[in-house]
Amino acid sequence: MLTGKKVVVGVSGGIAAYKAVEVVSRLKKAKAEVRVIMTRSATEFVTPLTFREISGNPVASDMWREPKTWNVEHIAMANWADLFLIVPATANIIGKMASGIADDMLSTTVMATKSPVMLAPAMNTNMYTNPVVSANLSRLAELGYYIIPPATGMLACGVEGPGRLPEPELIVAEAAQLFTERQTLAGKKVLVTAAGTREPIDPVRYIGNRSSGKMGYSLAAAAAKRGATVVLVSGPSGLSQPENVLLKKVETAAEMRQAVLAEYDDADIVIKAAAVADYRPSVVSEQKIKKNDGTITLVLEKTSDILAELGREKTHQILIGFAAETQDLLTNATVKLTKKNLDMIVANDVTVPGAGFDADTNIVRVLYRDGRSEELPQMSKESLAGHLLDKITALITNND
Ligand code: CTP
Repeated sequence: MLTGKKVVVGVSGGIAAYKAVEVVSRLKKAKAEVRVIMTRSATEFVTPLTFREISGNPVASDMWREPKTWNVEHIAMANWADLFLIVPATANIIGKMASGIADDMLSTTVMATKSPVMLAPAMNTNMYTNPVVSANLSRLAELGYYIIPPATGMLACGVEGPGRLPEPELIVAEAAQLFTERQTLAGKKVLVTAAGTREPIDPVRYIGNRSSGKMGYSLAAAAAKRGATVVLVSGPSGLSQPENVLLKKVETAAEMRQAVLAEYDDADIVIKAAAVADYRPSVVSEQKIKKNDGTITLVLEKTSDILAELGREKTHQILIGFAAETQDLLTNATVKLTKKNLDMIVANDVTVPGAGFDADTNIVRVLYRDGRSEELPQMSKESLAGHLLDKITALITNND
């Protein structure tokens, strides 16, 4: 799991700094590349030389003195990291991170990184249980930092209680775990629909829409990574089949309906990200329609609403719909949520730049049947897929 991963280990100044040496050593044995940043107080506990020898790389600690052999500033190290691991994390560095203070090499680099950040707090029990430290840790957890809770035991200061740095082996195992998705959907069957349908007019023409399939394919891939059995029913799309996903290709709304119904009974979660045609030509010409001088009229008939049908036949399934709107987002999405008997609807205003069809990013609002709603910031469709699956997993856990 850690092979080739680039890990920046930040060591702050507590007595447990000596245990960070073993963490670095274990990361190296697991074939990770490691670079160490020490705070000035950490260098009072362990010498930079020790970390340099164990990590095989120069150690950064002073913002103002360039490292001798590795001439790169804090932003480059922040970008380099696949994971930022702070061991031990003192009350001081936790406080700085929670308050947005960047006044040395470690706090500046961690602020600049986009990688996941994991902290292993270690300090005296009274410090750890101080409400200010607890509030800072809660804030960091809310912001998406990973906190490895300290162990309880006899501390260096002679006090017994929480605050001990967990064993280096456990810290490295937690780090490795970050690189594998937690198998939160193991044993569940997830049915995803993606892309737009095509309704033929004649042998060469069809009515289609702008959906690329990116959102649905990202959801299918993310569900498979979380251990689910995934069936992806997709309209035509240029995207390649995600790993460990059973792909069923369809063209029309009628074909999608059939494929979805065939997989519905034993599905636990159904996510309908497809842009299904609401109308199709009522007659499909057997021959290519020839042009003439006047206008031509296409007569359209309604297709069946697959999601509404799933909503009517729902037994135990969690149903998630999408609502692509150009106006009255909340009202329209709420109506669809209720009418189609959904558990959650992902609504987006496709007129907003960076949202919707054929874009790489999306900006959505998630609405639940109990009236709750949450707005998510603009993010890539891959990241959004992960966020949505976390929310869906929470729904399923409540349902069990
Ligand atoms: N949907 C479906 N079958 C259809 C039409 C839509 O299963 N024939 C699903 C979509 O996959 C989506 C949800 O219903 O999850 C909402 O689709 P949308 O096109 O936004 O809404 P419609 O119900 O078609 O309403 P309208 O087009 O009038 O906004």
